[in-house]
Amino acid sequence: MRVLVTGGAGYIGSHTLLQILQERHEALVFDNFSNSSPEALRRVRRLTNVDFQVTNGDVRDEDALLRAMRSFRPEAIVHFAGLKSVGESNSQPLEYYSQNVVGTIKLLRAMEQTGCGTIVFSSSATVYGEARYLPYDESHPSQPTNPYGRTKHFIEKVISDWVASRPEFTAVVLRYFNPVGAHPSGLIGEHPSGTPNNLVPYITQVAAGRLARLRIYGNDYPTRDGTGERDYIHVEDLARAHVAALDYASRFSGCEAINVGTGRGATVLEMIREIEAASGRKVPYEIVARREGDIATSIADVRKAERLLGWKAQYGIAEMCRSAWHWQSRNPNGYDSSHGPENHGALLEEVS
Ligand SMILES: NC(=O)c1ccc[n+]([C@@H]2O[C@H](COP(=O)([O-])OP(=O)(O)OC[C@H]3O[C@@H](n4cnc5c(N)ncnc54)[C@H](O)[C@@H]3O)[C@@H](O)[C@H]2O)c1
Repeated sequence: MRVLVTGGAGYIGSHTLLQILQERHEALVFDNFSNSSPEALRRVRRLTNVDFQVTNGDVRDEDALLRAMRSFRPEAIVHFAGLKSVGESNSQPLEYYSQNVVGTIKLLRAMEQTGCGTIVFSSSATVYGEARYLPYDESHPSQPTNPYGRTKHFIEKVISDWVASRPEFTAVVLRYFNPVGAHPSGLIGEHPSGTPNNLVPYITQVAAGRLARLRIYGNDYPTRDGTGERDYIHVEDLARAHVAALDYASRFSGCEAINVGTGRGATVLEMIREIEAASGRKVPYEIVARREGDIATSIADVRKAERLLGWKAQYGIAEMCRSAWHWQSRNPNGYDSSHGPENHGALLEEVS
């Protein structure tokens, strides 16, 4: 299958791209590198020894999308491109609506014009908001509590209306819980720019001595040890869910939203202990007041993924934390460690 991967140089995109190539699909990455490095693509190429195309472009640039799609003629799109920080979305809501919602509308229009009717979309468990019951199943009400979550909610609506407009359109909307970890090679992983927003990269940077200590927001939640509990999913399992979704989408038509998690939760203190075990280092932390908008527990009901995709998570938090530490210790500065920007241009020329 020919698959166009928007945001394919990013954290989840690069791991998924690798598996797409390993499954012998052809790929074109469409990314503006606003939050990623071409070095990730160079490493995917090294790991797979497979060629793929790269276009440096913004998903809001419909002409650039049309050019890329007319020449590559994708049969399916995996759409990762977008902004993902909850905090930033509160201070820059218009940027989030523009990149995420407008970007997706432009992409769907380009798909319509070029005869591509299949999309796998990166949604998020944040669409659910405060839990009415747990675990969250896909019919749990969607009441996101921040602009980022609302962009995902609106995109889901746009995609489902789009699919309903023509029988040949198909969408699989994957609602990720908390992706963590890295490829076992330690060559690709999560490369947050600046101070990490997510827990695991933050803890690994504390373990590495780059950050002084972790702040834990509240230890009085109704969980095993009082700290927040989340359903973490290994990025390798998540990547495999995309390959399963592509396969499913080739056999089915319509629009399905599907949770991607393990169905099990881990608390902040449990994650700290796992990183300590993986790294052999102490992770200093302090308990501070709860943060507004945080919820106690978020866990996925994963039965639909098993039923429709035949997919189930294989890894637990020990493997997630070991691989996250392996990546961090091999790449203390992420992708900046080994290559400067001058090499990035070379890669783009090479592969586009
Ligand atoms: N990482 C998480 O915890 C998480 C959880 C749930 C959902 N998601 C969603 O999964 C997707 C991928 O997340 P990630 O963690 O890999 O993020 P990421 O920032 O590492 O990857 C996003 C990629 O998209 C590119 N991009 C951003 N805006 C673009 C635009 N307008 N045009 C073209 N390219 C653009 C970036 O350069 C980057 O390569 C996002 O849509 C995110 O909202 C992520």
